[in-house]
Amino acid sequence: MGKNIANTKDTFFFCDGGSCQKAGSEQVVRAARAYLRNNEVWDTTHTIKTRCNGRCEDAPTCIVHPGEFWYKELTVEKIIPIVRRHLNNENPIKEELLYQKGWEQQFSNNERTPVKPKPFELKDDIELGECYITKGFSSDQYLYPLFLYLLENPKGVMLYVADRSPISFEEIDTIAYTKAYTLELHTKTESIGLTIAAVPKENMELQKSKISSTEYFHQKGTQQTGIRFKNKFGEVLGKIEFDSVESKAWEYCKKIQLQNTSLVLG
Ligand code: FES
Repeated sequence: MGKNIANTKDTFFFCDGGSCQKAGSEQVVRAARAYLRNNEVWDTTHTIKTRCNGRCEDAPTCIVHPGEFWYKELTVEKIIPIVRRHLNNENPIKEELLYQKGWEQQFSNNERTPVKPKPFELKDDIELGECYITKGFSSDQYLYPLFLYLLENPKGVMLYVADRSPISFEEIDTIAYTKAYTLELHTKTESIGLTIAAVPKENMELQKSKISSTEYFHQKGTQQTGIRFKNKFGEVLGKIEFDSVESKAWEYCKKIQLQNTSLVLG
């Protein structure tokens, strides 16, 4: 039988994402749970393993409620005193905190500079000709929102996928991201699969179909704008084109996908 959640006083959310696992999160969770069991506080304390908390540089991390305390760089030795403090309603261990509610900033020992797309550069591209081009992000955390936005704002947006006839986004009825790696675009008559999630290294077929490079372009002569997708081997997997430089979808791409990266037309 599960715990009676109504008895919970404190909750520890231990990150169990890839970086935290590599940094020893499992041993930290085991030590904390053993402490709770042996100190008769198991029934009033809840521990939850989460996916990535978005602070991999501070792995392993843990968030404690009530209070919203974020701990960083946990070890088996550090976690027991932390748990004890919170269960005894004492002050948190400040030097182990990354952040707590009310602080104006976080305190990481390993802060990374945020990655931003580079400004557009004028290039002579073998396929696109002379064009302003820059790379966007290609993880599913960007590609899924991109395709959802285009589904909701389909006017003047065309999709080109290798070995298929071009499709207007206005023909796409639904988008599903329920499979492990594949985003499915459904029209009334067909279904198109695009590999957008991180795929196993040993699966060459998936590696070849995975979108690993997302290039945003503005052709100099024709003023055509769009997005080109490639796999990690540099092979083109498909392309999206917008019918106008003032298209709402192109504006979205520059603002959200490229984080207002600069495009100065020469
Ligand atoms: S994997 Fe734990 S914060 Fe990212």
